[in-house]
Amino acid sequence: MCGIFGYVGDRRNAGTLVVEGLKNLEYRGYDSWGVACKDGGALHVRKDIGRIGNVDSSEFDHDCGIAIAHTRWATHGGVTQINAHPHLSCDGTIAVIHNGIVENYEKIRSDLKKKGHVFLSETDTEVIPHLIEEEYRRTKDFAAAVRSACLRFEGRYAILALHTESNTLVAARTGSPLIVGVEHSSTPNPSSGGGGETSPSSRGGRSRRMEVNGYFIASDIPAFLEHTNTVQYLDDGEMVVTDGKGILFSDIQTGRERPKREVEITWSVEQAQKGDFEHYMLKEIMDQKESIARAVNQSEEQILKVAKAIREAKGTFLVGCGTAGKACMAAEYFFSVIAEKHVNFAPASEFKLYHHFLKSESLLIVVSQSGETADVLEAMRVAKAKGSTVLAIVNVEGSTIAREADSILLINAGPERAVASTKALTGQLAVLLLIAYALADNLREGRMLLLETCAKINDMLNPRYVERLRDFAEHIKNEEDLYIIGKSWNYPMALESAIKIQEVSYVHAEGFAGGELKHGPIALIEEGTPCIALIGNDEVTQDMLSNAMELKARGASIIGVSPERYGVFDEWIKVPNAGAAQAIVNIIPIQVLAYFLAVKRGKDPDMPRNLAKSVTVK
Ligand code: F6R
Repeated sequence: MCGIFGYVGDRRNAGTLVVEGLKNLEYRGYDSWGVACKDGGALHVRKDIGRIGNVDSSEFDHDCGIAIAHTRWATHGGVTQINAHPHLSCDGTIAVIHNGIVENYEKIRSDLKKKGHVFLSETDTEVIPHLIEEEYRRTKDFAAAVRSACLRFEGRYAILALHTESNTLVAARTGSPLIVGVEHSSTPNPSSGGGGETSPSSRGGRSRRMEVNGYFIASDIPAFLEHTNTVQYLDDGEMVVTDGKGILFSDIQTGRERPKREVEITWSVEQAQKGDFEHYMLKEIMDQKESIARAVNQSEEQILKVAKAIREAKGTFLVGCGTAGKACMAAEYFFSVIAEKHVNFAPASEFKLYHHFLKSESLLIVVSQSGETADVLEAMRVAKAKGSTVLAIVNVEGSTIAREADSILLINAGPERAVASTKALTGQLAVLLLIAYALADNLREGRMLLLETCAKINDMLNPRYVERLRDFAEHIKNEEDLYIIGKSWNYPMALESAIKIQEVSYVHAEGFAGGELKHGPIALIEEGTPCIALIGNDEVTQDMLSNAMELKARGASIIGVSPERYGVFDEWIKVPNAGAAQAIVNIIPIQVLAYFLAVKRGKDPDMPRNLAKSVTVK
């Protein structure tokens, strides 16, 4: 939620650079945007409502080497130009951008007002530059002033601040993500010796240090991926000060320096781009031809270790939010059917109350694409406080969840930029299915099944198939309600189908367990109401067909997603037979359908209203 990006270094086009980079973080928020560039002693600030994606970056072509930019997902204060970031101090010398919530802002604001500070916006953020200004009057040291201000904040935040009288960029985080990108020159730094970790900007493992040309600080890696693959991670409770040549990480509370390693990340610029696709969502759906196989390609040793941990744990909990939560819920069925093992799923936002059940021998498996979701982090901390072990299944390597977990499995889906999660889900399902097979001492069989399924998905996602789904979307695009039913692992996929359709097309869609409809919701069915039935070739096929019949008898039009065509279907969306991996194949045509429903209804599937990728507030 909210994207922040700053640069300090040798480049003289910092304003253009941050605007262009921020366009890659637009998925984090897109109601308004703003930029501040320091040009000598002057500050150029511009902000407005609307999308950063529509802004012409050449308008920020000032001669400047320090700039910050923000794309907002509003929490406190409506979507207005005044509420957009950056926010400034009274004297206009300090500019701040912020992701998160300063929970005690009302108290700070009223204290500052008594001291004569004037506030222009309704945001919590605006107290930050004013408090820094107040502290700066006392300390005359910008970084020290930022630190003192941070010590007063309660809540979760990541901030970037600059000052007209300083050549540094200062950043701090508690709860919301911030990553530093390091731009090295191609020539070794003659003044630096041979390797070692003595300087925070030194490059671990290299025999000669390379000179640094600049630092990027962003909420997420795609902001600067075009410029560098070298990153340094800020942990919670840390701040960083950089002048573009050197960098200093420190603990906000103690002020003590924190050494940092540089890490090379493997994502490429191409992976993070749309290529020839009109939208990221469709590109990422198509990526599944390869991304699921990458998820399956896990180290056998690692998967067996996880299976052993589940066997030995006194209670295993699966936790995630939204789509990732639906992967966890499907895994309850995987573990039951394949490994005869009971595990418990809880949505991360509800997990806090489960601490009563947790013991030091409990195992918590958290699933998250971004690795930054606030509710998941909180669940992990609840479990850690009880001494439980935490395993994270994540997509983003180096994310906060990945770093705070005791061990991780990466799904290797590559960057997922559309707000609606698609390829991350199928990667998560594949990894969870592998673990279930490992738990049943059948890892090889699980791997074979999944690799065969990948080949079938590759065939399924051919242009004719996609076109048929596009035509079908045209056919149902004016429907007001859509119901989706499933049983066993297809039940969480019915819930996931509803999420996908709702979030990108804004059609009212609801998912149900097939057998549950007749206990109430069937009253909603009228002549012609479209109902999608997710079916596999398994022990619940007949039950599902009966449930579809019950709907049809009330006038529903049945759209079957299934390897076989059955008489009850009015429409058949054929999918390959994938046995225990059926959930993975059944959800894919629904992703495509949701995408085309959005497009046909004139909505932007990559940036659905009210949403943002990576939910870093609770
Ligand atoms: C829906 C969607 C969300 C996320 C949820 C968790 O398409 O993307 O429901 O699944 O916000 O996000 P992560 O997986 O990043 O923890």
